[in-house]
Amino acid sequence: MSTRIDVNDLDIFYGAFHAVQGVNMVIEPKSVTAFIGPSGCGKSTFLRTLNRMHEVIPGGRVQGEVLIDGKNLYGPGVDPVNVRREVGMVFQRPNPFPTMSIKENVLAGVKLNSKRISSAAADDLVERSLRGANLWTEVKDRLDKPGSGLSGGQQQRLCIARAIAVQPEVILMDEPCSALDPISTLAIEDLINELKSDYTVVIVTHNMQQAARVSDRTGFFNLEATGKPGRLVEMDETSKIFNNPAQQATEDYISGRFG
Ligand SMILES: Nc1ncnc2c1ncn2[C@@H]1O[C@H](COP(=O)(O)OP(=O)(O)OP(=O)(O)O)[C@@H](O)[C@H]1O
Ligand SMILES: [Mg+2]
Repeated sequence: MSTRIDVNDLDIFYGAFHAVQGVNMVIEPKSVTAFIGPSGCGKSTFLRTLNRMHEVIPGGRVQGEVLIDGKNLYGPGVDPVNVRREVGMVFQRPNPFPTMSIKENVLAGVKLNSKRISSAAADDLVERSLRGANLWTEVKDRLDKPGSGLSGGQQQRLCIARAIAVQPEVILMDEPCSALDPISTLAIEDLINELKSDYTVVIVTHNMQQAARVSDRTGFFNLEATGKPGRLVEMDETSKIFNNPAQQATEDYISGRFG
């Protein structure tokens, strides 16, 4: 399993509004790719096109291609539900199902995908997913307690466990730490670092130190002016983007001159 994503000439729209223009990029398998850029430049919008979540928004549509291991997600006959199983997503605010136990939360995606599993297999999957999310030791004695009773950082790891449980190839994370305290943030960053040995990870972050710490490659998105579409300005090895970017706009952004 080594899932590579190729984006070719992708344009993204909300109705008549052209939100993101002309994205071309390669996302390397089993690595962490970070997207940075000022608010409103289209990072979240772009991220959602990688698992066909964008079109859930009324008026949301795309032109161009997103290839996962050579297969176009937007090709004829592709079932978006299958795409979302292969490409999981973790959101900015931890969103465990409040009425469900920790265990039920981990299994929620698996059940939605209507896989029937034995209770022994379910227990095994719950343990593996929680271990994978670095949460097992903290919750193993309270699996039947509500997920909403965990701390914010634990809830976010629970959401990561839920994403892992369906055994995706790619995990998308939109500012997964922005609602967390510094200690929980470090726990998630450690986890992201471990996840890349099994998954292709793509993360949006406002925190440039975080991008520098966790990612192998970084893409900088920018907006020329309000109302204009966002664009991918440059994408490269993270150390190159932060130390010696090719574009002046990238340099200005990372050195805090705007955004
Ligand atoms: N549901 C929507 N309907 C219409 N326009 C939208 C919708 N969501 C986002 N947009 C617009 O698309 C553009 C890109 O928004 P997006 O949320 O992708 O930016 P972002 O880079 O993620 O910003 P932030 O850093 O603030 O999260 C913005 O102009 C925004 O107003
Ligand atoms: Mg966003």
